[in-house]
Amino acid sequence: MSDKATIEINGKKYDFPILVGTENEQAIDISKLRAITGGVTTIDPGFKNTGSCESGITFLDGEKGILRYRGYSIEELANKADFLEVAFLLIFGELPTKEELDQFHEDIKENSIVDDDIRKILDAFPKAAHPMGILSSLTSALTAFNPSNDQINNIDYERSKKALYDNIVKVLGKIPVLVTWTYRKKHGLPLEYGDNSLGYVENILKMMFKKPNKDYEENPVIVKALNKLLILHADHEQNCSTSTVRIVGSSHAGLFASISSGISALWGPLHGGANQAVLEMLEAIKADGGDTKKYMAKAKDKSDPFRLMGFGHRVYKNFDPRAKIIKVTADEVLNDLGVEDPILDIAKDLEKEALSDPYFVDRRLYPNVDFYSGIIYRAMGIPVDMFTVMFALGRLPGWIGQWREMRLKKEPIGRPRQIYTGPNHRTFKSVMD
Ligand code: SDX
Repeated sequence: MSDKATIEINGKKYDFPILVGTENEQAIDISKLRAITGGVTTIDPGFKNTGSCESGITFLDGEKGILRYRGYSIEELANKADFLEVAFLLIFGELPTKEELDQFHEDIKENSIVDDDIRKILDAFPKAAHPMGILSSLTSALTAFNPSNDQINNIDYERSKKALYDNIVKVLGKIPVLVTWTYRKKHGLPLEYGDNSLGYVENILKMMFKKPNKDYEENPVIVKALNKLLILHADHEQNCSTSTVRIVGSSHAGLFASISSGISALWGPLHGGANQAVLEMLEAIKADGGDTKKYMAKAKDKSDPFRLMGFGHRVYKNFDPRAKIIKVTADEVLNDLGVEDPILDIAKDLEKEALSDPYFVDRRLYPNVDFYSGIIYRAMGIPVDMFTVMFALGRLPGWIGQWREMRLKKEPIGRPRQIYTGPNHRTFKSVMD
């Protein structure tokens, strides 16, 4: 394995070091490129070939369908771990002891009260407002009620490290309340506070689904399914929304503002918004008589903007390990809940056809995390427009862990270069002259 790359520009050769990661990934370190070549830069729309950082949090191997959080396989964590345990692992780097986990949960509960004035902001939204737009706004508004959020200017001071920990438990304590309030507001239900006697996931479900003047009955099947789904969504290295959280945080904007920007980035249908788009697509196919072949043809037709939502991935080129786990879980949950959902069969038919269709096989397009997740959310009673909010809820520890890593490493403010292609210099002459 060579330790340098040589680039020849205008007849001159330049050497650049090759970085090798703990999983033998290699990257050409071009951090000195512009300086030593007199201004030459690189360009890579969508950053398909460009790394933004070195990170010790999540490892993906797109060819082998591997996903690990801090070295632990997603299969083990999804089937054996507790979501808050995984959140601690992603954020702080090691699995917690029982005492550490209990203290972490206590600190989160201590910080789960949301200022009542936030209700006034929530009330100002029209009923038709999309929950992701509401959540992003309310998350940003948390800064107004928690000014300490901005006191992490020089990360070296103990005070800053304490402020960072306080903000982390505030995010994990308050945002689930905002999520459930967003849901309840849209469904005309009174806003509920949590029940601190419950586990983290159990409490989210109770805050969301408790009906006024009725006893709340916890369903262990739904608790187990949500715990697994939140773990599966918890981090995914430098995806669009996580890169957004890192770059916003690199300007030393606060954690709430950075997470709010991540929520907005996740909303897009090419990213986390795909789980809602998948359900809408499957419903449209069902309404159209379940004609999956017609929609496969539309997905392949370059003149048709239709894409098979929930298919394809920038990194995974064989299969998304999360999709495999979620597909099995969908069968289990629907079976345990006694739910028959015809769109699950439509989803399976689409996957089966795509796996033998040259268009999809040649482009290595397989179901991703968003393809089956909505079927489970719907069986749990979660409305379609809340699916991406549930994705955001799961992704909180990843966003927090990546933001914390970037700040502790004192990474520079993110500011990409460009190649200018506009008009050359010209003299201004006003129409007013
Ligand atoms: C997430 O990055 C992450 O890690 C994201 C995520 C996470 O956990 O954070 O995994 C979560 O965002 C999953 C992806 C959810 N999005 C969707 O399901 C939307 C549908 N998928 C696509 O839009 C697309 O596959 C992307 C956005 C996921 C990936 O896009 P790329 O890597 O930029 O690939 P591309 O658009 O250049 O596509 C390559 C080819 C093109 O055809 P050609 O020009 O080569 O002929 O594949 C085609 C595309 O037209 N293609 C599809 C397709 N996805 C790609 N054709 C039909 N249906 C699709 N879904």
